[in-house]
Amino acid sequence: MNRRKFIRNTGVAAGIGILHPALFADSLMNTGSGTLRVGVIGVGMRGRGLVDILIRRNDVDLVAISDIAQDSIDKTMELIKATGKSNPKVFLGDDLYYKKLLEMKEIDAVIIATPWQWHTPMSIDAMSAGKAVGCEVAGAYSVEECWQVVRANENFKTAFMPLENVCYRRDVMAVLNMHKKGLFGELMHCEGGYQHDLREVKFNNGKQAYGGGVEFGAKGYSEAQWRTQNSVTRNGELYPTHGLGPIATFLDIERGNRLTHLTSMSSKARGLHNYIVEKGGESHPNASVEFALGDIVTTMLRTARGETITLTHDTNLPRPYSLGFRIQGTKGLWMDVNSGIYIEGTSAPHKWDDAKQYYEKYDHPLWKKYAEDAKGAGHGGMDWFVINAFVESVKNEKPTPLDVYDHAVWSSITPLSEKSIVLGSEPVEIPDFSRGRWMNKKNDFGLSDIW
Ligand SMILES: NC(=O)c1ccc[n+]([C@@H]2O[C@H](COP(=O)([O-])OP(=O)(O)OC[C@H]3O[C@@H](n4cnc5c(N)ncnc54)[C@H](O)[C@@H]3O)[C@@H](O)[C@H]2O)c1
Repeated sequence: MNRRKFIRNTGVAAGIGILHPALFADSLMNTGSGTLRVGVIGVGMRGRGLVDILIRRNDVDLVAISDIAQDSIDKTMELIKATGKSNPKVFLGDDLYYKKLLEMKEIDAVIIATPWQWHTPMSIDAMSAGKAVGCEVAGAYSVEECWQVVRANENFKTAFMPLENVCYRRDVMAVLNMHKKGLFGELMHCEGGYQHDLREVKFNNGKQAYGGGVEFGAKGYSEAQWRTQNSVTRNGELYPTHGLGPIATFLDIERGNRLTHLTSMSSKARGLHNYIVEKGGESHPNASVEFALGDIVTTMLRTARGETITLTHDTNLPRPYSLGFRIQGTKGLWMDVNSGIYIEGTSAPHKWDDAKQYYEKYDHPLWKKYAEDAKGAGHGGMDWFVINAFVESVKNEKPTPLDVYDHAVWSSITPLSEKSIVLGSEPVEIPDFSRGRWMNKKNDFGLSDIW
């Protein structure tokens, strides 16, 4: 078995959880030590969180990191130093310098945690270099870009996994477990979204990041350097996957079901402007910036099987964080904003049950098994699970639980919602990126005893 074969996402149907002895032996042979050799491109706020998980694993060698910012590299090296692990090779250079990292034969897989506009070129370059790819989440800039990633994956046949961590959130997985046991009946409607007050963008005085929120672009720090600009020029569902990814695992999207079309509507834009004026005054240069992104963008999607989905993008108004999940079927529903569950025949009529008792009772087997390992990892531990899923499936040459078709469908929602808004909320078709493969694929998300 050659190197390329080792990292290939073979499409071999599961048997998941049981390592075929020959496969495992080959993996050992190919990696030299039974470890996955990983490079990370983009070691900003998110990349460092992922590095922190990777370096704690004894089946991962962090071989190299790449970034364009000295500050990000320095902070990552400090993090690594604190664990006593050996230093990775550093590729610090211009925007395309990551390609040098991809030339390293000693790398099996790369994690991409750069700004959104880099995900597609970096993924394609990595796949063409024969690397398995774990790509951070985003919305795409065009539907064509989604096709490009699909084509590259089919062409180069390396593993590709969108690193959608919310699919692994503990309460989400417990509710998925309840759904699999039939407690909600036949699902009819799901809701989710990205509802996170991001107005307090950060700037950096060279040493430290401050909140305060009126600077972005060159004076910004971390996501404020690039994300806020999207709110200036784009109006749509800019960050669909934290809401849609988990819902897709409930509704068997790309696994016997698919998204067919959507319609999107946006409110007017006030939040960022008001915030800048309040914090920086009327005369602050950014007070004259016109923001295109509506404060609330609502997108409705329909599936081939007849369920509906509502996604809400809400990042520029004052609010506590909530992804606003609702999973509703013929027998009951879950809503996360009030942590409520209602099951007909079990719950008192018209009264919410506290969801916590259900979370405990239906805790997902993966969480029961790995909760200790995930302790301390980002976002309540779910970040550990998504990295574990990527590492284990690539290392063991199994299909990744989330794949390039999930990535294409989820991230295409952004340009499609922009289009719908421009067309006065007209329905827009969602391409069938898998060209019919979805019909025969089984939904085994969360069913393996490893990932
Ligand atoms: N899954 C999650 O929970 C989660 C959380 C936060 C961010 N994210 C995603 O992670 C990604 C990164 O976000 P972030 O918060 O870390 O942003 P960030 O700005 O803090 O980090 C991005 C890093 O990429 C580097 N970079 C930019 N261009 C580069 C290039 N051409 N080559 C190499 N490095 C380059 C930057 O210098 C920076 O260090 C985004 O897609 C974001 O949406 C996901």
